[in-house]
Amino acid sequence: MSGEGKTVCVTGASGFIASWLVKLLLQRGYTVRASVRDPSDQKKTDHLLALDGAKERLRLFKANLLEEGSFDSVVDGCEGVFHTASPFFITPSDPQAELIEPALNGTLNVLGSCAKNPTVKRVVLTSSVAAVAYNGRPRTSDVIIDETWFSDPESCKENKLWYQLSKTLAEDAAWKFAKENGIDMVAINPAMVIGPLLQPTLNTSSAAILNLINGSQTYPNASFGWINVKDVANAHIQAYEIPSANGRYCLVERVAHYSEVVNILHKLYPSFQLPEKSADDKPFMPTYQVSREKAKTLGIDFISLEEGLKETVESLTEKKFFGM
Ligand SMILES: NC(=O)c1ccc[n+]([C@@H]2O[C@H](COP(=O)([O-])OP(=O)(O)OC[C@H]3O[C@@H](n4cnc5c(N)ncnc54)[C@H](OP(=O)(O)O)[C@@H]3O)[C@@H](O)[C@H]2O)c1
Repeated sequence: MSGEGKTVCVTGASGFIASWLVKLLLQRGYTVRASVRDPSDQKKTDHLLALDGAKERLRLFKANLLEEGSFDSVVDGCEGVFHTASPFFITPSDPQAELIEPALNGTLNVLGSCAKNPTVKRVVLTSSVAAVAYNGRPRTSDVIIDETWFSDPESCKENKLWYQLSKTLAEDAAWKFAKENGIDMVAINPAMVIGPLLQPTLNTSSAAILNLINGSQTYPNASFGWINVKDVANAHIQAYEIPSANGRYCLVERVAHYSEVVNILHKLYPSFQLPEKSADDKPFMPTYQVSREKAKTLGIDFISLEEGLKETVESLTEKKFFGM
């Protein structure tokens, strides 16, 4: 097993992506130090403590992105750091306090702990397509977005895209800090993540699918890239383990408008009541392409959107978010 005898840490371990990351790291034999905001909240910890290998090789730590030095003890003695914690929701009442400060200052806090710790060999940052694709350039069917694209903070501000702004500022600051402090960092930039939930709470990207099957009359007039959570977690570990991995990796199985997502759901579940019209009368937002070339060098096979949607619906049903 590739991780045997090695200690790594995962921030925000109770979240959707990080829970999968912890599961796969334990499967590969790693010892995992994992941070959660509130270790006394069983909704955030029970599913982690129940993972195979957790009893022997998982240790939970309390840490908050907003507290300087909070991650020192988590990172202590780790060879690899997976920084995944960051708030992901779309309609903050105070964007600065709720999204930007935890994303930006939190990333610098975690990297600050890494800089103090000579055992750390590589940091894998969970960034997002949110930090790639929002730069005001048109996104149409002939456009191929790749790792050379960077979202533009001014464009995000103008369009009140606060989550995108938080991820853009955080990734940018992370690259600067890593360069100045000699930290070997790799960024993973996934699009909308779907697939089975390990945690008992509902995260934002899974809620996007729940909203379609839960009786809504309309679907959003939007096109997003979609990617399976198992591919995302695997890409993080590959980015850590493959010595030549570097820079950023966009992760998108394919870009699809919500109308196409609804069509796939209809084929999979003909009896479901699904929305039949777009939320506005404007032309459909075009789809675009996101290059998969660099991600393929991490050995990612890309689980299909169809499979991901099926897994998401089954998981939402099993967790009783749907069908009761
Ligand atoms: N899901 C997607 O579609 C997607 C796509 C691209 C990138 N990402 C990125 O992937 C990462 C994880 O997202 P996710 O989808 O797994 O979301 P999630 O389930 O909501 O997980 C977010 C994690 O961040 C933690 N967190 C938030 N604020 C914190 C704070 N002040 N201090 C400490 N921890 C804090 C949360 O802790 P609590 O559980 O205590 O709230 C949670 O563990 C984020 O960096 C997100 O930007 C997600």
